[in-house]
Amino acid sequence: MDLKPRERLIVALDVSSIEAAQALVARLGDAVSFYKIGYQLAFAGGLPYAHALIDAGKHVFVDLKLHDIGNTVAQGVKSVARLGATFLTVHAYPQTMQAAVEAREGKLRILAVTVLTSSNDADLKAAGYGRTVQELVAQRAAQARDVGVDGLVCSPEEAARVRGIVGTKLALVTPGIRPVGADPGDQKRIATPAAAIAAGADYLVVGRPIIAAADPKAAAEAIVAEIAQQAAEEG
Ligand code: C5P
Repeated sequence: MDLKPRERLIVALDVSSIEAAQALVARLGDAVSFYKIGYQLAFAGGLPYAHALIDAGKHVFVDLKLHDIGNTVAQGVKSVARLGATFLTVHAYPQTMQAAVEAREGKLRILAVTVLTSSNDADLKAAGYGRTVQELVAQRAAQARDVGVDGLVCSPEEAARVRGIVGTKLALVTPGIRPVGADPGDQKRIATPAAAIAAGADYLVVGRPIIAAADPKAAAEAIVAEIAQQAAEEG
């Protein structure tokens, strides 16, 4: 995937109002070209803000991790496509992925979430799965490839293995990014920006290390610089 370092950073707009999102986007300026709208902003009336971002030349990732009966998923996917979004997440269940892929239109690309980066083996066991994170990620990655999704969300720790399963055509998007010294928060499977790129990630999703920083623009620029350096080393 031939992407400039800046295009590979997706900032999670995990804020509670359009006003807060506008203020953050204004502070970040040209440092950031790709934004993710998730539960917090979307359910606070923030989805229409996608239009303003797109009109301003930004890309939008709608991270609502859909999972429902096929018809409901398909209709939801069509509505998100009409927003002008670039990425939409669904959970990596075969029926859900199939419905989403068949319903996508325009520039919308479907990303499947393998296993949330806040989960470890004990969390999966508690949720009733008889598999480790590694096993479940590998199974879901293979199913996503077979269904024909456009990309996968996975932790940087498992990006290299997932790349081996899905090949080079699918985009790998990794949250759980923490620059050296950053607070992990609730993320259990984390990596630095450079390590995520080295593991084969195409896009990095970064929330708190940028949006909760004293100087969000400087934090974003530092991450873009780290991406650029690692990409240059890989030549
Ligand atoms: O603040 P932080 O950098 O941990 O934010 C990560 C973002 O990525 C959050 O918006 C979270 O919902 C999202 N995400 C994740 N793990 C996934 C998929 C999405 O952390 N598997």
